[in-house]
Amino acid sequence: MNTLQRGILLPVPNQARYLSFAIGDPARVRDGLRVLGELAEDDYTVIGIGQTLVSLMKTSIPGLKNFPTITAPGLVIERAPEVLWVWLRGDERGEIVLRSQRLVRVLAPAFRLKESWDAFKYAEGRDLSGYVDGTENPTGDEAIHTAMIGAEHPTIRGSSFVATQRWRHDFERLESMTEGEKDSSIGRRLVDNEEIDDAPETAHVKRTAQESFTPEAFVLRRSMPWSDASDAGLMFVAFAASFYAFEAQLQRMAGADDGVVDALFKFTQPVSGAYFWCPALKDGKLDLAPLAC
Ligand code: HEM
Repeated sequence: MNTLQRGILLPVPNQARYLSFAIGDPARVRDGLRVLGELAEDDYTVIGIGQTLVSLMKTSIPGLKNFPTITAPGLVIERAPEVLWVWLRGDERGEIVLRSQRLVRVLAPAFRLKESWDAFKYAEGRDLSGYVDGTENPTGDEAIHTAMIGAEHPTIRGSSFVATQRWRHDFERLESMTEGEKDSSIGRRLVDNEEIDDAPETAHVKRTAQESFTPEAFVLRRSMPWSDASDAGLMFVAFAASFYAFEAQLQRMAGADDGVVDALFKFTQPVSGAYFWCPALKDGKLDLAPLAC
């Protein structure tokens, strides 16, 4: 049975906002979680809980941990707050603004808004580099199988994990690259999204080819472009039943396995990353029982 929060399996929406909260009043956190439990029964809200909050609840979620330190030459990825993450999804920017205002109010004083990133769908689901993102995502039952935790963790069966990572693009660099250079950096053609068979080893899709890992490393990506007044890039978001696939891919992208660094780094850099546990749905509410709530 599929008990994933509904927004996880749906295609990326036209508009979104990623909210990240810090602990406000620790004594009120349990009340805040109860409010939260009621909020995820629709297609428009996906909620993730971080290790900091789980520790505060004096419990543990098997498989959940802090975002790891990944080292590679010139690569520094800050850890974003890992308390509470909310992905607000919708079609209308106005609706999202109103919902996020309401959310911040109802979660106070337990939780305090720490970061808010506006995101949007570009064309039919392209990254701001112009390339279609998400082509090799699993679909149907495979998507559920990829994202949903199974019998390996009976206490959190039916829930999911999400790895989030904010990337900032260097648009000056991107604009200076020819289409051919960009195609070989990604490993697909901008013009028709076809995979380039003889792409170099540095090509992003060669680095991350999901079947090429042992065991295979599948994730369900739901990334979206983000922007603020001065910067823009990709909010990389990948759901899976564990963090294994994300870590294996990122390690290989950073050249940790063989010294070959993903060509993507020529025009974009990860700024921050965070891990969360996305509780399952039960009777239309978030099942917070694993948090002893
Ligand atoms: C700014 C950052 C990134 C951009 C612009 C980007 C863009 C893309 C594009 C255009 C594709 C090809 C189409 C597709 O299958 O979706 C792709 C594939 C993929 N990307 Fe990324 N990506 C980024 C970061 C990441 C990160 C951080 C990971 C994982 C750690 C990742 C994992 C993958 C995977 C697994 C595939 C499919 C590979 C396959 O099996 O063919 N990407 N990405």
